[in-house]
Amino acid sequence: MSIKNLFALIVIIGLQFSLFATDIWGPTGHRTIGEIASEHITRKTRKKIEKLLNGQSLAFISTYADEIKSDKKFRKYSPWHYVNFPFDSDYEHSHKNKKGDLITGINSCIKILKDKTSSKNDKVFHLKMLVHLIGDLHQPLHVGRAADKGGNTIQVQWFGKGTNLHHVWDIDMITQWEMSYTELAKTRNKLTKIQIKNYQKGKLIDWVLESQTLAKKVYASVKPGYKLKYKYSYLHLQTVRIQLQKGGLRLAKVLNDIFK
Ligand code: ADE
Ligand code: ZN
Ligand code: ZN
Repeated sequence: MSIKNLFALIVIIGLQFSLFATDIWGPTGHRTIGEIASEHITRKTRKKIEKLLNGQSLAFISTYADEIKSDKKFRKYSPWHYVNFPFDSDYEHSHKNKKGDLITGINSCIKILKDKTSSKNDKVFHLKMLVHLIGDLHQPLHVGRAADKGGNTIQVQWFGKGTNLHHVWDIDMITQWEMSYTELAKTRNKLTKIQIKNYQKGKLIDWVLESQTLAKKVYASVKPGYKLKYKYSYLHLQTVRIQLQKGGLRLAKVLNDIFK
């Protein structure tokens, strides 16, 4: 093989990794959810969390679960970031990932945080995981199809650059909007108390099904190879922003229930 071809091969392999290895709401999405949640927790919850996190903010620790992915020691937590089950079936009756998923992950965190016998270290770790996972739950493609890894294998273009559908929803739309997480949180929709309560209603499985319903729409919004730009953001950024807001409000609800 010529040097030129070898170089091309390395670039192609590198590109594949960079496109398939991602499965995260980007840091900005997670931090926005943490920031919104911190404005909706009770004083009591805030006090208990401040103690556990030594004063670090929910926004700051929201990305921890992605940071540890590069450490082999934490590999067993990777399946916690998403859940896939067929769109025509329900979670209960579908084949489960024996290594866990977004639902078992969130439930494990809640259980450990509620358990009076858990160590502080265990509580801190699972609080950081929980803050992140409630965020992931609100990225519709984290409740997408197994066959395409939640859109990770659906190649599209974003302003002329190769990416994939999952990445567009995790990161590309948010990045193109060019707002910091504090700006995203500050400019969220103004809601009445009743609207907030309505978003916070329901159980974990209801929120999962809501994300899956959204995922169907996301899949219907593109075909492989589509060249996405302004029009796509125009149509879908509002959905992203509402998901971030719901994620923050529901995270606050979950935390208030744990630390009440
Ligand atoms: N990230 C990696 N695999 C995934 C999947 N199957 N669904 C959603 N996100 C993923
Ligand atoms: Zn994640
Ligand atoms: Zn993701």
